[in-house]
Amino acid sequence: MYIPKPLEDVITVTKLRKLKAKGEKFACLTAYDYSFARLVEQCGVEVVLVGDSLGMVIQGHDTTIPVTLDHMKYHASTVNTGLDKAMLMVDMPFGTLNSPQQALDNASEILQATQAQVVKLEGGVTQIKTVEKLSAFGIASCAHLGLQPQLVHKLGGYRIQGKSKNAAEQMIATALDLESAGADIMLLECVPATLAAEITNTLEIPVIGIGAGAEVDGQILVLHDILNVTAGKKPKFSKNFMQGQSSIQTAVSRYVSEVKRGQFPEKAHSF
Ligand code: KIV
Repeated sequence: MYIPKPLEDVITVTKLRKLKAKGEKFACLTAYDYSFARLVEQCGVEVVLVGDSLGMVIQGHDTTIPVTLDHMKYHASTVNTGLDKAMLMVDMPFGTLNSPQQALDNASEILQATQAQVVKLEGGVTQIKTVEKLSAFGIASCAHLGLQPQLVHKLGGYRIQGKSKNAAEQMIATALDLESAGADIMLLECVPATLAAEITNTLEIPVIGIGAGAEVDGQILVLHDILNVTAGKKPKFSKNFMQGQSSIQTAVSRYVSEVKRGQFPEKAHSF
């Protein structure tokens, strides 16, 4: 028999807004399968992202570009079976957002296949109309600004964004436009901590940061990075939470408690 999740326990966009209003930090983490989804939720993670980073940490590619809608649907539906109350957020992969209508069709497919609450989309200013369309059709979205890995070839590498005065002003304006268009959450990746703080104070919606300093509302990292199993060079903004820990559970719990207490990220993880 299907037993629905008790709705009052589930983390919703409204609950994240309330945490922001109270100044309480929340912890987000990626997961790509049932077992890790269950584990990270039990350690207190509020938002589980099935990121297209799976192209790199699960599939072994150099970029997120080869990830397809079917890959996202498969991994996100396995993650959903492991969650009782954490918010499930799913990335819209490369090539699925080429027009507002295409994005609406693909986001609808993701929600139906995975029961996710929120879709996350890269693209910034080009996705304002898409966010508006998703919102009009009742689909909650997280806009992703700063470093957008799907644009890596155009950006010329994985590097910090919003450093110049002009770029910072543009990012603030785009963030406000996306919020007005109906975005429910903002994610900032690899932006100067001062800029991330300004965007967080300017927006009403919750702001999640990765490499965006300590002043955002929530933090997110890639699970494989914090468990120190990612191959190759580790990003500056991440931290090996396995160090000194005897189990994956204690490492993830330490990440959650450091985020909630404002101990992570430190200056060393910020730009
Ligand atoms: O794909 C992903 O995991 C992400 C996070 C790095 C935020 O977008």
